[in-house]
Formats: sequence, structure tokens, C-alpha cells
Amino acid sequence: MEQYSILGRIGEGAHGIVFKAKHIETGETVALKKVALRRLEDGIPNQVLREIKALQEIEDNQHVVKLKDVFPHGTGFVLVFDFMLSDLSEVIRNSERPLTPAQIKGYMMMLLKGIAFLHHNNIMHRDLKPANLLISSSGHLKIADFGLARLFNDEGERLYSHQVATRWYRAPELLYGARKYDEGVDLWALGCIFGELLNSSPLFPGENDIEQLCCVLRILGTPTLESWPEIVELPDYNKITFKENPAIPLEEIVPDTSPQAVDLLYKFLVYPSKQRCSARKALLHPYFFSCPLPAHHLELPIPQRGGRFPCQRLQPPTADFSVDLHLQNSVVDPALLQGHAACL
Ligand SMILES: Nc1ncnc2c1ncn2[C@@H]1O[C@H](COP(=O)(O)OP(=O)(O)O)[C@@H](O)[C@H]1O
Ligand SMILES: [Mg+2]
Repeated sequence: MEQYSILGRIGEGAHGIVFKAKHIETGETVALKKVALRRLEDGIPNQVLREIKALQEIEDNQHVVKLKDVFPHGTGFVLVFDFMLSDLSEVIRNSERPLTPAQIKGYMMMLLKGIAFLHHNNIMHRDLKPANLLISSSGHLKIADFGLARLFNDEGERLYSHQVATRWYRAPELLYGARKYDEGVDLWALGCIFGELLNSSPLFPGENDIEQLCCVLRILGTPTLESWPEIVELPDYNKITFKENPAIPLEEIVPDTSPQAVDLLYKFLVYPSKQRCSARKALLHPYFFSCPLPAHHLELPIPQRGGRFPCQRLQPPTADFSVDLHLQNSVVDPALLQGHAACL
């Protein structure tokens, strides 16, 4: 920690405080994410292990934030990342004008490339939302915050926690209590983020879990056994019933949007997770090949944090999840931990 001088506090999320800092020797600006252990006997929190594990698994990718270092500090850990100027929630909140179709396409292309890469490496992020999508000084979008990321495998009979993802971006199967789910939860969140970019406001801003489900059902229509056969297997299926209502065409939800954009949005916002379009496939959608073409990253706006044009928009809820207990199959490199455990 002595190698860094702290320049200021950038953010505070569910899992830690993030500081802007300078590496004294190299002069490099970095972001330090400090994650404290509440009590020593709590051991090392699962979130931190997950974040380290997931980030270690990832080779360099232009659209995933790079973990430069990790070291113990006090009774916790510090994760060191490249410093990013902004994040997508700032872009949505602070842009002076609505984003242009080309800019939205540019962001979506980078986001899909990052997600395609993660899913190809069997990593589901589980907490995709604008605040976790950082923007570099060159306008690159980079996926960050792997506190809830999990490795998945196809045979997977494992049970996962359904209390993942920030509410507005939480897939309907999670809202119905699913414990077995897949990377489709990220594809749902992608659809929510796409809709938010198109409208400059969140698509499903539920104020609690039940209302969240209402927001989704109001737009996509009440699910039926035909539209979502797997719904009967979900733990909370029988616990909640909603009045039948038909779907509202997405064209009305995201007005003034090109037919290709609406078509792609439909491909993410479908009830059965397996029917959601994969990130890799979505990159081949005509949306990305029609005019206007995706904006180059250098043409994208980079608002300053706490920018000059804050609009009074709804603030997303902070993540209100709990975490799974089982981490046996998902631990960091033991060598890395042993060194750290000695320092705790
Ligand atoms: N590498 C970084 N550079 C600049 N800001 C960052 C960086 N990482 C995180 N932040 C800021 O800190 C906030 C919280 O970080 P995040 O990793 O999402 O932690 P949490 O798990 O606590 O949500 C982010 O929304 C972002 O604004
Ligand atoms: Mg976060």
C-alpha cells in the first residue's frame, strides 16, 4: 500500500470502497478497490475470492477491466485496476443530449464483445448494469466488478443463489427464485441496458422485488405455459399470481428506434433463458451492419464523474443481494491465498 498515494475516493459499492491513487514509482494512475473483512473470523469473503478468481481466469481482453495486482491490506484486500475515467451510468445520466443511434451501437458492440468473451470462458458476470461498465480515457467500455461472477459448466447441476444482480437488471427466472440458471441472466441484463441506452431511462425500475416482476410483466405480458414452459419449475411460481395482461409492443416502449434495434432488443428480453440471443450471435445481427454504423470509441462521450449536467433521474437501487455459501469449487490460486493468509 505504501507504493501508492491516494488521490481521492471514486466510488463505493456493495463490496468495497474504490480510490483513485498514483503508483509513486511509476507515476501511473490506478483505481484501488479496498475490500475489508468485517471480522477476522469471517474469513475471506466469497465476493473477494470470486472477484480475484474470475479476474485471474481472464486473459487480456479489451472490454474487460484489467486486474493489475492484488495484495493484503489490514484485515482485507486491495485489488489494483487500471484507472477509468467514467462509467456507463454517468454517460446515460450526464450526456447533454440523448445518445445518438451510432453511439448506442458503439457501446452495445463493445459490451457484447466483452460478454461474448466472458461467456466463452465460462464466466457469468451476474451483476451487469451501467455502473459496472467502465469507460476508459480512449472511450473503450470495459466490464468491471466481478464480485458476483461465477464459473459455470454445461453439465451444471449446481445450485446458485437467486439473490444476484441489481434489481432492475435481474432476470425474471431470478425474480421467481430460480437456483439453477445460466449465462442467460447476463443476456437479460444486456437487454435492460440496451433499452436504457435507447430511452435514457431504465426499462424496468422496480422499487421492490414484487414490483420488479410487475414492471417486467406489464411490458412483456403475463407469462403463459406456452411462452415460458419452464416457469412451472421455478420455486416461487405458485407463490405469486398476477392479473393476465397482454404484452406491449417494444416499439412503443422504445419509440423512435430503428426496426433492427427493436428486433435485437426482442432477442434478449424473452422469458425462457435458453431462447435469449447469445452475445456472440448478437454481434452478427443486422443492427450492427446497417446505417448508422457503430461510432468509433474515440467519438464517444466521456463525462467526468459527478459531471456538470446531472439530470434528476431515477437512481438505481444498490445491489441488495446476499451471496452463496459454497465456494469450494471456486477458490483462488491457493498459493496466492497462503501468502495473504499469513498477513491477516
Ligand atoms: N478501475 C476503475 N477506475 C475508475 N473507477 C472505478 C474503477 N473500478 C470501480 N470504479 C468506480 O467505483 C464504483 C464501485 O466499484 P465496483 O467494482 O463496481 O465495486 P462494488 O462491488 O462495490 O460495486 C464503480 O461503479 C465505479 O464508479
Ligand atoms: Mg459495482
